Order: sequence, then C-alpha cells, then structure tokens
Amino acid sequence: MNHEMIAILDFGSQYSQLIARRVREHNVYSEIFRADTPAKQLRQLPLKGLILSGGPASVYSKNAIECDRKIFELGLPILGICYGMQLGCKFLGGHVVPAQKREYGRTTLSIVDKSDLFAHLPDSITVWASHGDQVSKLGDDFAVLATTETCPYAAVRHKNKNFFGVQFHPEVAHTPQGQEILKNFLYNICRCSGDWKMSDFVDKTTEEIRKKVGDAMVICGLSGGVDSSVTASLVHKAIGDQLVCIFVDNGLLRNNERENVTSTFGDHFHINLRVIDWSKQFLKGLAGAIDPQQKRRIIGAEFIEAFKSEASKIKNVRFLAQGTLYPDVIESGAKDGNPAANIKLHHNVGALPKQLGFELIEPLRDLFKDEVRTVGEYLGLPEDIVWRHPFPGPGLAVRIIGEVTPQRLQILRAADEILIDEIRSAGLYRKISQALTVLLPVSTVGVMGDERSYENVIAVRAVETPDFMTADFSHIPYDVLGVISNRIINEVRGVNRVVYDISSKPPATIEWE
Ligand code: XMP
Repeated sequence: MNHEMIAILDFGSQYSQLIARRVREHNVYSEIFRADTPAKQLRQLPLKGLILSGGPASVYSKNAIECDRKIFELGLPILGICYGMQLGCKFLGGHVVPAQKREYGRTTLSIVDKSDLFAHLPDSITVWASHGDQVSKLGDDFAVLATTETCPYAAVRHKNKNFFGVQFHPEVAHTPQGQEILKNFLYNICRCSGDWKMSDFVDKTTEEIRKKVGDAMVICGLSGGVDSSVTASLVHKAIGDQLVCIFVDNGLLRNNERENVTSTFGDHFHINLRVIDWSKQFLKGLAGAIDPQQKRRIIGAEFIEAFKSEASKIKNVRFLAQGTLYPDVIESGAKDGNPAANIKLHHNVGALPKQLGFELIEPLRDLFKDEVRTVGEYLGLPEDIVWRHPFPGPGLAVRIIGEVTPQRLQILRAADEILIDEIRSAGLYRKISQALTVLLPVSTVGVMGDERSYENVIAVRAVETPDFMTADFSHIPYDVLGVISNRIINEVRGVNRVVYDISSKPPATIEWE
C-alpha cells in the first residue's frame, strides 16, 4: 500500500497525536516521527507534506530539539505549529525572542491574507495560543498571513520555501476553525486527494501483524471491553488461529459478563478462546483486604498468576497482544533516545508484559478511543461491545468499599444490572460515559412493610466525560433516578437506600476506590 502521507515531526508537544488524528479526520494518512528524523529517510516516504509540532522548549535554549535542516530542501509543503513555526522561521532567517507578553489561552486572530492557509475563513477567528517565545523579526522572504494583538507574526508564509507557520494551535478544539485551517493545508497546499479510510488502517495493521508474527503464536488477554475486544478481532483477522485469547474470570465480574464474552468471541467470531475460572483464588487473596491499593495489588498479582498458568499451556507463544490506546501509551522515547521523551505526560498501562517476557503487539497504540470504536464497527463487533462503558481491571472489588465477600458481590451485581438496564431503557447509555453502582460499608435504618430494616446503601454514579481525566456527574432526570432507586430497593435483597453521587472529577474520582 502506498498511500499519500503526512509526516508529523514531534518536538514533544502534548498535542502531536491530536494533530495526527485531525489529519486522519480529513482522510489523509499521517504518522508521527521523531523530530530529528533525517531528511534522507523522509524522502523515501510517499509524503505530501510535513507538520512540525509544538514543543515545550525555547528554540534558543541549550536543550532545544532541532530537526534536520535539509527537510526544507525536500520541496514539500511544511506547516510549523508554535515551536515548529519558531524553529522554521529561525532556520529560514527570522528571529525568535521571548515575548514581552506571554500568550496563553483564547485569543483573537486577525487574518490579513486569505490566499491559501486561511482560504474561506472570516477576517477574525478565535484561536488557542500557548507560547512564551514568538517570532520578532522576519526577513523579506516572509509574508504575514495573520496577527493577534500581541503577536505581529501570528501566521506566516515563506515566499519561496513553501513553509507556513502558525503561532497558535489549530489542532485543539478551542480553535473552532482549526479544522478548516488544517484542511486548507492538506488540500490547497499539499494537494492531498483524501482517499484514506479507517479500513485502510485495518489492512495496513493486519499486514504488519502477519509479517511480525510469522508462524509464532500470539496470546491476548480478553476482558470484553472495547480495547481488548478490538485488539483481539484485529489480530484474529490477521492471523486466525495463531491467536489464543485468554479470559480470566476473577469472580469480580458483572452478571453475564463471562457468558457474553464466550458467546461473542468463541461462538460467533470463532476465536480460539480459553476461559479460566480463577475466582476462588482471587476471592481467597482478597479476604480481609480493605485498602483500595492493596486490593489492586492483590488482583494484579493474581491476574498475572492466572494468565501465566494458562499461557504456559500454549506452545510456541512469542507475542502478547494488548489493547493499549494512545492515551495510555508510556512514551518509550527515553529508551530509544527520542529527544522528545522526557517532556511527555506519562500514563501507566500495567505491569503484565514485562513479567511475562513476551514481545508486544499493540495495534491500537496510535488511536484515540472513538477511532478504536470506528475500527470495531468496521470489524463487525456488536454494538454492545463497541459502545461499552469502561470497566476497571479490578472489577467490582473497587466498587465494594471494605471487604469483598461473595454475598456483597451478589448484592452489587444485582444493583449494577438494574442500573444499566434502566439507563439503556431511558436511552441514556451512550450519553453517559460510565455508570456504576457502589456498595457502601454502612447500614442505615429503613422501614419495609411494617418492619424496621437495617440494611445496605447503594450509591449510583454516572458521569459524562470526553476523556475520563475530568468528568461531571450526569444530570439523569429525576424520574429515571426514581425508577432506578425503586427497582434496586425492591429487587435487591439487603438494600434499603439508594443515593446519587453528584461529585465532579476532580476533586472526586469516577470510581470510589
Ligand atoms: P478514576 O476513578 O481514576 O477512573 O476517575 C478513571 C477511569 O479509569 C478506570 N479505572 C481503572 N481501570 N484499573 C483499570 O483498568 C484500575 O485500577 C482502575 N481504576 C480506575 C475507571 O473505571 C474510569 O473509567
């Protein structure tokens, strides 16, 4: 496959993946490269243009990351964003200085030249800026395309080099017309044809997996969540029965979870699936554990034991497939000498792979969650899986405050099933990002019939969030909450009170533990 492509040189911006994703949204394939990738190497690719990302450094600081200057000789259009603009301007004869007034947040951009990058845009638009330095002087070779109140060179074009620079971030949602600007770059300037589709991602990825795996076996921990389900389906599409999925029943699952996974992946997709019931071991390990972190440690260790025990029965395994997504990615840059590495936000994914000693296959590591859903839909996964709310690895154990016992699990499962059922009936499942019930370690007084009761409290939590980093409680209509509460109290033995959690994250978290 030789698709047209946009290369993004990463100078350590927190937005590099977002730029790549925005380009994909315009049906153009894009890949991220190290900032210092040699021009010679880039020349081998079917490139239509380059984007230089932003970055936290100053172009004049000692540890400033630079790109190969020869990229300006490739004859390709280049768009520099923020740091990328400053670096391009510096290389092409401009001057960059710390700005007298730093510019952070929303600002108004006045457009003075609409011939290419700003075609079809109004005279003034809102943009998102985040920079200290700015270009202070430009030679005669540059034309100014836009200004802001504090920044006379907010967007520029080099007259002969096909270099464009913007001092703001067109890729973020806070620049509402940013997508128009990127579209102008891709279509007016780079002359992309825009024939790339998510299905091409699937073709390319399955081809890569086949090549990498050869005739070895691959194992995959399948949880039934979106990420592991899409990973398993993708790898299965690539190598069929060379993939073995392992589903660990840890005894901390919701009602019917194990049955659903078995029927979807085993019966329907004919994936080689091994279900192991390790629930006794998990519950035994958890006995007496109250501290949330201790619970997580016990569950993590037990999971590795369970996984290892099953994996050791499979011959010729060399690879472990994992559903790591971009937001989970630990930038491995430090290891391979990527200069952008130590300035990235890091997220830990989990300790499974290192302990097991397998090579990793992470086909989704460049994608965002909604893109993973698109891939899942393309692969024919049922809607129920593609749109499933996240469920934490430690399962119901972190939703039972205090000790986990079979009786308490039974109460929580029943309550959870009612909550999800009612949210679906009310047509709210997709609007809500995650909904859950929590069993509290308190008993309160109630009256049932003519009897005094002294029973458990269930807390209902439902949040809306774009990324699970921050979240607001969902404004579920009172009548829906009323039905949920009535049903839980009437149908779940051992519960006489239901409360609704109206905290936002931060300062609260989504889970209670
Ligand atoms: P919090 O509670 O931190 O949750 O706001 C954010 C998201 O992460 C999920 N979560 C976990 N997922 N292992 C997981 O695999 C965990 O230990 C864990 N803790 C929280 C949570 O369900 C929410 O989607």
